[in-house]
Amino acid sequence: MEVGAGVSVEARISELRRKKAESLAGGGADRVEKQHQAGKYTARERIDLLLDAGTFVELDALRVHESHDFGMDKKHYLGDGVVTGWGMIEGRTVYVFAQDFTVLGGSLGDVYAQKICKVMDLAVQNGAPVIGLNDSGGARIQEGVVALGGYAEIFWRNTRASGVVPQISAILGPCAGGAVYSPAITDFVFMVEGTSHMFITGPEVIKTVTGETVSMDDLGGAHAHGGVSGVAHAAFEDEESCLRAIRELLAFLPSNNLTEPPLQSPQDSPDRMDARLVSVVPDSPDKPYDIVAVIRSVVDDARFFEIQAEFAKNIVCGFARLNGRPVGVVANQPNFLAGVLDINASVKAARFVRFCDAFNIPLVTFVDVPGFLPGVGQEHNGIIRHGAKLLYAYAEATVPKLTVITRKAYGGAYDVMCSKHVRADVNVAWPTAEIAVMGPEGAVNIVFRNELKGLSGDALSQKRAQFVAEYRAKFASPYVAARKGYIDDVIEPQETRPFLIKALETLVNKRQDGPKRKHGNIPL
Ligand code: HXC
Repeated sequence: MEVGAGVSVEARISELRRKKAESLAGGGADRVEKQHQAGKYTARERIDLLLDAGTFVELDALRVHESHDFGMDKKHYLGDGVVTGWGMIEGRTVYVFAQDFTVLGGSLGDVYAQKICKVMDLAVQNGAPVIGLNDSGGARIQEGVVALGGYAEIFWRNTRASGVVPQISAILGPCAGGAVYSPAITDFVFMVEGTSHMFITGPEVIKTVTGETVSMDDLGGAHAHGGVSGVAHAAFEDEESCLRAIRELLAFLPSNNLTEPPLQSPQDSPDRMDARLVSVVPDSPDKPYDIVAVIRSVVDDARFFEIQAEFAKNIVCGFARLNGRPVGVVANQPNFLAGVLDINASVKAARFVRFCDAFNIPLVTFVDVPGFLPGVGQEHNGIIRHGAKLLYAYAEATVPKLTVITRKAYGGAYDVMCSKHVRADVNVAWPTAEIAVMGPEGAVNIVFRNELKGLSGDALSQKRAQFVAEYRAKFASPYVAARKGYIDDVIEPQETRPFLIKALETLVNKRQDGPKRKHGNIPL
């Protein structure tokens, strides 16, 4: 009940306080208890964990829905089931919305959508990231098509904000049906094991339509999307680590596309050389090694924030710093499928490269790639189209681009992996590099087919070994590429960190314009 005219200021203030307290209570103590029992924090608890202490400023805490159907006129909750506002992370402004499952299952109606749109608009106008904490039963069924319109307003804003301000989604409960498309458009999707689920249609519908039986977790849990579909960029064992990771991620990112990523003073010396790098690449070209160990050895303080670590492990993507400057690292991983480029690896890296380019984050690429993965499945599922995404992403990127070839750079994959030809700024190779059209074995089978015809047994193996050795000596080295200027230098492995830091410093003012156009047509 509202107090009327002629009442004292004190009474008005206590009315305000009552309303604020009502809004803060969300769906009430019982629902909060249920939320905790389900292993989940409430919307406000999540905001407290996410933001710098005491910085949250709430907007629209007093809004209520305007729906009258299906008994909704008797179900009013101040704030309408979503907590929105702004706050700080490491002293920088972010805008936040947190869906409150304790109010009508966090379901989205007209007013709820307007609240989210308001913070998204402010974020774009003021050049600050938007973080969405999702935990919702989806479209508020009682509001019907109005809820669908609300979602579409959010999707439209997600798209307009893409490449303007970073958008990060945490999935901390259900996120189903068309509702998944807002997080899907955002730059990073983080999930929590056991409590978060994303799917277009749930297990029941799937059972009816296709006859398949699947659990919620196997269908749309953190592992399914972190490791199989690639929808999620990371999976965490609890909400605290998920929200902490958002803070860590933001430390690498600029607040918007018109500013530079934040610098941080490293403990590490820019001149540090790591002698262990000399023996990282095995003598045998077919032996694997861990490229993440190489990355950690080169970057500041061995700190590497990996993205999609469980998806397409044959390529590694993540953020690090070189002498305090954030960089996006892309690297073939010889430890998994020999670091081959397949559909998933191409798509994963392409999206990462485009994100870095959109937000002024220089790219550092480590290359050890035997080529694209052969196979009918890969061809029929479109490796041509998907591989082209990575090529396109590197070619269109105008941020500083630095490339280090540690071992194999074969065939089309050599071109794709940020070669000089797609306008990398500085390309170097280790002495162990093999830059060639293909591996020596495959090359010999084609080039010396006639010479090998008719031979068998020992004679065949000896002759083939001789040709392989000749081919390897002539082409499987960095020196043909060095003579051509396709690489700028061959460096000793331990020089990599100081070299990259010096190269990056010369590129801080890089400007590169392209022809005027509306937008390109990336092969989607
Ligand atoms: C209105 C909803 C709701 C919804 C949940 N609630 N989802 N109210 N609209 N979409 C209400 C419930 O009725 C319940 O209210 C309260 O929230 C808590 O829900 P529970 O079912 O008790 O919780 P739980 O057992 O944890 O199950 C959560 C759930 C389930 C899996 C999300 O609630 C569910 O299946 N909800 C419906 C999901 C759905 O079909 N949504 C529409 C999808 S289509 P009371 O008062 O009874 O406790 C969609 C299209 C978007 O979203 C399109 C965009 C383009």
